[in-house]
Amino acid sequence: MKFFIDTANLDQIREAQDLGILDGVTTNPSLMAKEGISGDENVFNHYKTICEIVDGDVSAEVIATDYEGMIKEGEYLASLHPQIVVKIPMIKDGIKAIKYFSSKGIKTNCTLIFSAGQALLAAKAGATYVSPFIGRLDDISTDGMNLIEEIRLIFDNYAYNTEILAASVRHTMHILQCAHIGADVMTGPLSAILGLLKHPLTDSGLAQFLADHAKVNA
Ligand code: E4P
Repeated sequence: MKFFIDTANLDQIREAQDLGILDGVTTNPSLMAKEGISGDENVFNHYKTICEIVDGDVSAEVIATDYEGMIKEGEYLASLHPQIVVKIPMIKDGIKAIKYFSSKGIKTNCTLIFSAGQALLAAKAGATYVSPFIGRLDDISTDGMNLIEEIRLIFDNYAYNTEILAASVRHTMHILQCAHIGADVMTGPLSAILGLLKHPLTDSGLAQFLADHAKVNA
């Protein structure tokens, strides 16, 4: 499973990259705003900086919601850096834009997926990734993992190349559940990724090894 980090925070992106396990980055307008990045030029430069830090795909979301606007904005975003993936919302014009970008060989990430039908439509249009939002479904008492399972089944039935990018991952167990089901990619916060490191028996075992070593090497 590929690991993407879901943030626009450069320190966190660097930390994940330094770990050697990072395959890409997803951002969205809220995450950019959280870092105080505003104004087109600053936003574009921020995407370029992220691309210079990581080796993999970097999702940059369009703000336009009409077909022409999404094409213009998406083409510009894609021209910023070869690692940019144009992130398009799951709306009617978005599907048309995904089809267009797919025919031009420009990678897309269809965002705000909350049903298997939406994922199927995005795959048919040729999306590189679909982003089902697990955490936001959990927030409304709906099991987000069921959606990942359903999309996995549909994509496998028809051997779609579109990758399932499990998004809105909130904690470490989400990552493990995604891996059980077979999501191609997960995008989550650094804290959820670092949570995979932790086990109390690892800590106590290491402390014992070091203490035993110190006893005979004093
Ligand atoms: C996906 O690409 C989104 O950026 C993200 O995963 C949304 O997560 P949230 O529901 O925690 O805001």
